[in-house]
Order: sequence, then C-alpha cells, then structure tokens
Amino acid sequence: MTKSLRTQLRLLPTHTGPFPLPPPTPSSLPSTPTAAFQTWLHDAITAGVIEPHALTLSTVDSSTGIPDSRVLILKDLDSARGWQFAIRGDGPKAAQLDGNPGVALCFYWAELGRQVRIRGRAVRLSVEEEERDWEGRPRASKVAAAASRTQSAVLGSLEELRGSVERVISTATASDSTGREEIQRPAWRVYAVSPVVVEFWQRSSDRLHQRVRFRKAEKDDREGGEGEDGWVKELLWP
Ligand SMILES: Cc1cc2nc3c(=O)[nH]c(=O)nc-3n(C[C@H](O)[C@H](O)[C@H](O)COP(=O)(O)O)c2cc1C
Repeated sequence: MTKSLRTQLRLLPTHTGPFPLPPPTPSSLPSTPTAAFQTWLHDAITAGVIEPHALTLSTVDSSTGIPDSRVLILKDLDSARGWQFAIRGDGPKAAQLDGNPGVALCFYWAELGRQVRIRGRAVRLSVEEEERDWEGRPRASKVAAAASRTQSAVLGSLEELRGSVERVISTATASDSTGREEIQRPAWRVYAVSPVVVEFWQRSSDRLHQRVRFRKAEKDDREGGEGEDGWVKELLWP
C-alpha cells in the first residue's frame, strides 16, 4: 500500500550531522553581523554548498497585509549598507517595497545545517550603481530581463515570449553602430538591506540547536558594557 504523504514526510530524514563546523557562541562570532555573515558565507562556499548566495526575500503587500516571498541572488554585502540584491522595477516586489521597505532575508545552507535570518529596511541604491549592476550581468540574463515585458504579469503564450526575445536580440544588434552590442535596460533596481536584527542558527545532532542573535545596541546595553561595535549578541532558546 502506498504511504500517505503525511507518512512519507515524517519518514524523510532531516540532516542529523555530524556537522563539520563548531557551533556558534556569542564570543566565537565576530562583533558585527556583516562580519559574522561573511565568515559563514565563506564556510558555505568552501563546503561546496549549491548556490550559497541564494536567499529568500520576504516583503509585505501593503494592499492586503499578506507577506510575499521569493528567492533572489545576493549581489554584494558591505558593512556600511548591508545585503544587496537586484530586481526589476516594475514587478510585484518593487511595488511592495515602495509601499513598505521593511523586509526579511533568509539564507539556508543545508549541507552545514545553518540558517541566517536578517530583518531590516531595504534602501534603493543610486542609478549609477544600478547601471553598473546591469552592465555586469551576463548577456543571456540581460536578454531574458529585457524580453520580459512586465515581470510577473500574465503571459499569453510561450511564442509571445520567444518573439519578445527575438525582438530584443535584433534591436540590440541593429542599434549597434560601433560594433558594441547594447541591450536596452528595463526598469532596474538595486537595494541594500540595512539590518536591525540578524540571527545565526546552527543545527545540532542532539536537536539543541544553537542560536545567536545580533540586535542593535540600545543606550542601556552600552552603559552595561554589552554593546560591541553597536551590536549586542545574545543566545536564544532553541
Ligand atoms: C535561484 C533563483 C535565483 C533568482 N534570482 C533572482 C534575482 O536575483 N532577482 C530577481 O528579480 N528574481 C530572481 N529570481 C526569480 C524570483 O524568485 C521571482 O520569481 C521573480 O523575481 C518575480 O518575483 P515577484 O513576482 O515577487 O516580483 C530567482 C529565482 C531563483 C529560484
């Protein structure tokens, strides 16, 4: 007899270790969340995690109050501005960000049993940086982005999409008098997420998973000597 989906789900193993890296503690992590994240991202890259730079971005649709999530690629990270991603300026997530810049990002590196959650505000970068990001994209992804007329709008048929791709390619080549191909940039945005809270979670084989949270230090924290580089690190119950 075939097992029910519920049974099949219960029988699926979750990663039980052994985990290759030591569990985090407030004192073992660097003093800022960006530095700690860079260490963990580096661990994920070194361990050969597939798409370690893939993240889930959650936004809020202010018209319904219902959150929305999708996977994106991390484009850059710096301590001054935070986690950066690039999106179309005419799709649902851009509209959601216009209505409410509050976001959550989530990274999961299954091979290492690690998750990082970031909550903060998304701030749009300058047009120059958006152009630089667009120019740095591979040709195929420029063509695909330019061919997608209004991202996430209903597409009548795949022929329509193919026709749009052909038009982008022929226009790009025709407009090129100097021999350099130019693909028309669609509405394009790059955002940086300035964090308010960042949590590092690591699976433990005894299920007592370790969690360390960074939160912005408040006045009392500093007086108590707990704030370091403007951040307080604390353990959380699993
Ligand atoms: C691995 C992966 C990477 C992706 N990277 C991006 C990205 O960097 N930027 C982007 O706009 N969409 C990216 N997407 C597509 C989005 O998940 C989403 O389908 C699309 O942006 C439309 O989202 P929206 O309807 O919420 O605006 C990626 C999807 C996957 C699965």
